[in-house]
Amino acid sequence: MKIILQRSKCIGCASCAAICPELFEMADDGFSHLIGSNKEGENELLEIDEAKAGCAKEAAEVCPVQIIEIV
Ligand code: F3S
Repeated sequence: MKIILQRSKCIGCASCAAICPELFEMADDGFSHLIGSNKEGENELLEIDEAKAGCAKEAAEVCPVQIIEIV
């Protein structure tokens, strides 16, 4: 399973980093960064295992602009 962060649409609310700090951090530019991810165009992608899925889902739910996707 993987997380996709549409970083170019991030408004910097920081809820993802607050609720799931093992996967998300706020970068120096004020927007979210998916820790250890790869870039794909304007998105960031990270493969995760089931154990981290709960945290990732909470972050996806809490994001006000709904730019975190788990597939
Ligand atoms: Fe950005 Fe959404 Fe996180 S707006 S800082 S990805 S909660």
